Amino acid sequence: MPRKSAENQTALRALRNHLNPIVKQPSLPTDRALKSSSSTQKGFGGHGHFPIVLRFDRQHLTQSDTLEFVSERDAIEELSDIFVFLADHDFAGYSPTYEQLARAIAVDTQLLEFVLTSASPNTRRGRIPVLFFAATHDRILANPESEIARVYRGESDSDPLRPFLELVELERESIVHNMRTRSVQTNEVGRSAGIALGLSALTLNDRDIALVEIGPSAGLNLFVDHWHADYLLNETVVRELGPVDSPIQLACELRGDLIPPEGRIGRISQRTGVDPAPIDASNVTESRWLQACVWPGIPERPERLAAALAIVARTPPPLVQGDAAVDLIPLVEAMSDECVPVIVSTWALAYVSAAGRETIQTSIDALGAKRDLALLTLEEPRFTPWIETPDELVTTYFEAGDGTPTVLGLRQWVNGKCSSRVLALCHPHVRWLRWLEEEADYG
Ligand SMILES: C[S@@+](CC[C@H](N)C(=O)[O-])C[C@H]1O[C@@H](n2cnc3c(N)ncnc32)[C@H](O)[C@@H]1O
Repeated sequence: MPRKSAENQTALRALRNHLNPIVKQPSLPTDRALKSSSSTQKGFGGHGHFPIVLRFDRQHLTQSDTLEFVSERDAIEELSDIFVFLADHDFAGYSPTYEQLARAIAVDTQLLEFVLTSASPNTRRGRIPVLFFAATHDRILANPESEIARVYRGESDSDPLRPFLELVELERESIVHNMRTRSVQTNEVGRSAGIALGLSALTLNDRDIALVEIGPSAGLNLFVDHWHADYLLNETVVRELGPVDSPIQLACELRGDLIPPEGRIGRISQRTGVDPAPIDASNVTESRWLQACVWPGIPERPERLAAALAIVARTPPPLVQGDAAVDLIPLVEAMSDECVPVIVSTWALAYVSAAGRETIQTSIDALGAKRDLALLTLEEPRFTPWIETPDELVTTYFEAGDGTPTVLGLRQWVNGKCSSRVLALCHPHVRWLRWLEEEADYG
């Protein structure tokens, strides 16, 4: 009963927020767009700035998903820390434009305030910077002739800051609208390189796979068996999976001494998924949102995404609109008994509430006791506690610029017996992967 009343309160709060979402009218100072990047250290608003203490760490980010701030100043300070953290860990060496913009935003109190108040009040704070970048990128894509669009496309090497701020100024209302109505839905087809290895590590006993994805976005990774992945060690291909003539070619750098064992992806005969906002790959606005979620400066990603969207648009998978905590199990139960249901989750559990994740885990475990199935995850280790990932692995093998630590884990039930394996560590988009299993007994 207490749980129910807490849920009711949450629902009421959500409804209130929905009906009256504007906590404070976001605004930018009118002179912002004209400030030059040389003022970075002082903050572009030029006033109201306070010294930023970089006290951010991973633990802090974990807590920030649940803690309430005691004052707005704390919230802004923390948001600044998150921008810096992303610049150091995720954007550095990958998306120089976002790295530069994130560092500039981190020291601009007024812009931080705009970003913070533009997000819907129930957006997790750790997700706000990337949502802001996507919301703005969407408007940049809608203004392809703008100076910042040329910078994003790599056609100009101008400093991105001034044209970025001009665009934010110009498109302020649409950016706020995007931030209030959208969420980060990056459908990164590169993750298929990790999923493919996970699928080839399954015990199937000659049965087909029924793939059921948590948070599939447009479902591009449900077609993992249609894409080709090369795994390279010192620039030499040492493993490959998927049809060589696929229009989608993935390249994943292997790190460490271990090479994933030879394997193949079993036959996938059913594919589906559950997402609160499934993306229709054939819809131009929806597809643009997925392009907006792609970070600038990574040449192959927009083209690869467009190609995968075009293919999936021709044969879209049946996706269910819903919450995995509620709608996943009925979907898995509906899969044919001839198949082994394989539930896949790649960078989706981070977006599910802690209570939702617990429900997902216990209900999958209960179902696994009754029928063979598997749960393949490519997630931050803190969201998959059933996969034991020693902290030393993460601290040893992830350095600044390697991306947020991500683990490829497999939990499988065969004849009611459950096993959990840490298969690999990898970049969140699987640019690189460190295989961990020395010996494997693949059936
Ligand atoms: C960062 S995207 C990742 C998309 C895809 N899994 C990939 O790796 O390319 C996160 C996805 O999780 C979805 N999501 C958020 N909350 C969810 C929930 N409660 N149940 C299922 N999916 C959810 C979002 O809508 C979004 O499409």
